[in-house]
Amino acid sequence: MVKAIEWKEDRVLILDQRALPLEVRYIECNDYLAVVEAIRNLSIRGAPAIGIAAAMGVALAASQQKASYFAGFYRVMKKVMDAMIATRPTAVNIEWAMKRMDSLLLANSGLGTQELKEMLIEEALKIHREDVEANRKIGQYGASIIKEGYGILTHCNAGALATGGYGTATAPMLVAKEQGKRFKVFADETRPVLQGARLTAWELMQCGIDVTLITDNSAGWLMNRGMINLAIVGTDRTTINGDVANKIGTYTLAVLCKEHGIPFYVAAPTSSIDFAMSKGEDIAIEQRSPEEVTTIQGKRIAPEGVKALNYAFDVTPAQYVTAFLTEKGIFKPQELQNLAWL
Ligand code: MRU
Repeated sequence: MVKAIEWKEDRVLILDQRALPLEVRYIECNDYLAVVEAIRNLSIRGAPAIGIAAAMGVALAASQQKASYFAGFYRVMKKVMDAMIATRPTAVNIEWAMKRMDSLLLANSGLGTQELKEMLIEEALKIHREDVEANRKIGQYGASIIKEGYGILTHCNAGALATGGYGTATAPMLVAKEQGKRFKVFADETRPVLQGARLTAWELMQCGIDVTLITDNSAGWLMNRGMINLAIVGTDRTTINGDVANKIGTYTLAVLCKEHGIPFYVAAPTSSIDFAMSKGEDIAIEQRSPEEVTTIQGKRIAPEGVKALNYAFDVTPAQYVTAFLTEKGIFKPQELQNLAWL
């Protein structure tokens, strides 16, 4: 499986997901501004992956710093961290990763800048490693919900490409496959950026998982026909009460699942849970350019001048979520608050 992001001593390599699946090409980020741009333009996307990218961007900026005193060093690093946080507002993983980098800096203000640079690089690599480990655990816990012969619905891309590796919503599928279970995955194409069609379908095919692409508006009908046994999606930010921000269309699926009596699971590493936010209403929902809606891959499909609304995410209230698949186990929405202490 190709890697979404890699640290290379003096630069960060980012797989340009905008070109997938037609072309596998990498962007070489030689400074933090290139990382900022790659997050903004969706070359790298998916909550955990952009958290890792932001941490590596900070490490890159630190390694290029000239300041020899802490105050000057910290001032520049703060500016870099703020730039990372400003890229995309919905995924909590960026703030979470920046908090880790910031706390490390403040806790070690007495050290020399060379040591600080090394610490920040190591912390970014640790955030990456921990994400892959968390995903594997999500897979181990989550595989238990997949039974022989199941049809599983997923939305957007919450796979290896959206994370440090292995994926969150896809991790239980990978483990279930290793266990020899046979099942089918239905991937929503996920308009307007088509993460399902371009990324999830591509990724799952590479892993030898039986995947079928569907248009977003097919999900209800497949449920009606008894073809879906469960849904697993990712999250960009889950609040402490269990409300889930995820790719636009997730809310629609969750409501449909409830109507059809289909369990609706959210794969959520604890880095995607905002333990400081009490409810989904408080989540900032990113709105992107209307052009993503009026064009497909650069080709206009709507009348010139038409208005288009492009919310990138929606919020699914906790009442629609069966349970969360986390690296610490499987939890009901009302149990999430206990996770902060585990
Ligand atoms: O706009 P994107 O492609 O960054 O949106 C990604 C999603 O909505 C994912 O489902 C979410 O980030 C979870 S990824 C493990």
